[in-house]
Amino acid sequence: MKNTAATILGQKQSGEKITMLTAYDYSTACIADKCGINSILVGDSLGMVMLGYENTLPVTMEDMLHHTKAVSRGAKNAFVVADMPFMSYQTSVYDAVVNAGRLIKEGGANAVKLEGGAEVCAQIKAIVDSSIPVVGHLGLTPQSVNAFGGFKVQGKNYERAKQLIEDALKIQLAGACAVVLEGIPAALAEIITKKLTIPTIGIGAGAECDGQVLVYHDMLGLTQGHIPKFAKRFADVGALMEQGINAYIEEVKSGSFPASEHTYKADEEVIDRIKKEL
Ligand code: KIV
Repeated sequence: MKNTAATILGQKQSGEKITMLTAYDYSTACIADKCGINSILVGDSLGMVMLGYENTLPVTMEDMLHHTKAVSRGAKNAFVVADMPFMSYQTSVYDAVVNAGRLIKEGGANAVKLEGGAEVCAQIKAIVDSSIPVVGHLGLTPQSVNAFGGFKVQGKNYERAKQLIEDALKIQLAGACAVVLEGIPAALAEIITKKLTIPTIGIGAGAECDGQVLVYHDMLGLTQGHIPKFAKRFADVGALMEQGINAYIEEVKSGSFPASEHTYKADEEVIDRIKKEL
């Protein structure tokens, strides 16, 4: 059964936690879908973990479409949410609707996600009015890295905590079907979760959110470099890959790979005839 915005809303209402994970390609989407994940986020984090950029700012609509198409083909049951990249919605309400539409129509996503509070409510409303579900994103929103002066936990002082609560209520009123809360104190995320009727999905926002999301490279040991404090490593796929690649290198060099079971047999008569002609 395909998960939808209604599925995750029902989960909030019944108290069943929502599971969301990033994916950027067909194979990973198939695996996550097979495991029964509720939602797959084609995050603009792909700029960092797939494309090697320092942050998410250089990611383009074409990058997002390319990866969203691949994920959508693999996600039969998961609710596919595609990130709107930096400057694809901040520029105008018109741009926001056009670009959200492309992620649904060309990318095959089921919803879009965009970062920000009161300042993007007009965009959220217009996209929702176009029948496209929108997931909001508040707190340590990576597209604001320059404005924040780095990747810093948000909502730690009274004014900023109050502003985040107000922003969450405003984007809910604008029509968002869920909101990602990133890099904020757990106690603040709990207050927001209790105040909202739409689900909250936390990343570095504690256990009281209605669901959790992680970047799969972080939780599977594939991230090169810094791993945030909140990203628990559930498996070390990176180490397994290294082990496999080292074994491959060794066997190719020693000549033990490919062995006869990896080799196609020829018809001896054909080979003999060719050899005679040489
Ligand atoms: O781009 C992304 O992967 C995200 C998550 C960190 C929530 O927005």
